[in-house]
Amino acid sequence: MKMSAGTARAGWRWRRRSTMNVHDVSKSELNPLFHHDIEKLNRRTSLAEGLPGRAYYDPAFYEAERKDIFAAGWVGVGFASDVPNAGDIVPVSVAGYELILVRQKDGSIKCYHNICRHRGMKLVKAKGNVRSIRCSYHCWTYGIDGGLLATPSIAGVNENRVDDFDYSDLSLVEVRSGQYFDIVFVNVDGKAIPLDDFIKPVRDRVEPVFDLSLVSPADPATGRGSRDFPVNWKIVLEGGIEDYHLPFVHKAFDHSKDYTSEIGGEVYSGFSSRRSLEEAQKRYATKATDGNALPFFPSMEESGVAHACILFIFPATILTCTPSYISASLQLPRGPELTHYTSRTYFIGDAATAPEYKKLRDENTIYWKQVLDEDDGPWREVQAMTRIREELNLPSRFSPHWEAALHNFQKTVAAKLPVTD
Ligand code: FES
Ligand SMILES: [Fe+2]
Repeated sequence: MKMSAGTARAGWRWRRRSTMNVHDVSKSELNPLFHHDIEKLNRRTSLAEGLPGRAYYDPAFYEAERKDIFAAGWVGVGFASDVPNAGDIVPVSVAGYELILVRQKDGSIKCYHNICRHRGMKLVKAKGNVRSIRCSYHCWTYGIDGGLLATPSIAGVNENRVDDFDYSDLSLVEVRSGQYFDIVFVNVDGKAIPLDDFIKPVRDRVEPVFDLSLVSPADPATGRGSRDFPVNWKIVLEGGIEDYHLPFVHKAFDHSKDYTSEIGGEVYSGFSSRRSLEEAQKRYATKATDGNALPFFPSMEESGVAHACILFIFPATILTCTPSYISASLQLPRGPELTHYTSRTYFIGDAATAPEYKKLRDENTIYWKQVLDEDDGPWREVQAMTRIREELNLPSRFSPHWEAALHNFQKTVAAKLPVTD
């Protein structure tokens, strides 16, 4: 789907919009963690023990995460550049919540539960552009603003209205939503703090170093693309949140020498590094075999220092800022042991779309596919061991140098969930 220049520019401005959700989601009453789990997890990193095995497969644990993490907080679920024009619509699924993102005539994006108000049919099954949203079961039809427009033949042949219905009360149920960068965030229970307050620590860390206004989206298939991993969502995040495994798992990578953990309380965990421009080209695959190279952020070109900062915005969004491109990825749970991974890549200036950079964009895609292919095996094997690890009560441990951010991520998960004796 092509983005017009006007909406592309508008898309990169900081925007926030919120609407209270009329439907409440009750807090989980499950107790997936015990006080002794928390005591072990909250030790200093070198002595701490990680989340128990059941955290990665147990339906009760997952149910608690659905309510207390994925409904209660802001969660990145989609990309504004996927719906550039009025009427553009895309279904998204996160932790059992079936949602629709649709671009409005005023340029904003609204989110609704993807559920017909008649008898609960799933309304939108594929990305597209619509003038209205029509249920395929009995043809109830909604405007893109969510209002119920038509109920054909509901009162008999060619009798299209029921007098007792209050049509204004049968709109699609809106979900509180907002946008940062190209990422559309939703808050299903409508009770989280404002999105701009939540995201402020991320902006404060990223934007002084990376000028996000300079980048624009490449084709969605560029870079890391989209795929499913048959593992718990936390295994995908934990797999990226440390550089410890790099030289052991990934042929292309060495350990970063200048590696700093980035801890943003319960908002983000991650890491950053600095390199020479030449080293950065190798690390992030930004120089093609024909010698052409992706442009750096101008400030880094001037200083000769290439910065990288990878922030895992809790719970499941990764914002990867490199010297030559930005990548945003969403790790969306589809069940206790299934995660849908989707990402978009953004390049500086015309490197996002210009033909002379196509080879570089293609090589970036090949490079990241290889990286994810290499991660896939260890992730599956760790997932496969979680049940026996739980049965044997075998704790996991952390490297204090490489896994302080991973430790912070697990502590944040635990802090959101109910605890029992
Ligand atoms: S379920 Fe949608 S119109 Fe009947
Ligand atoms: Fe990896």
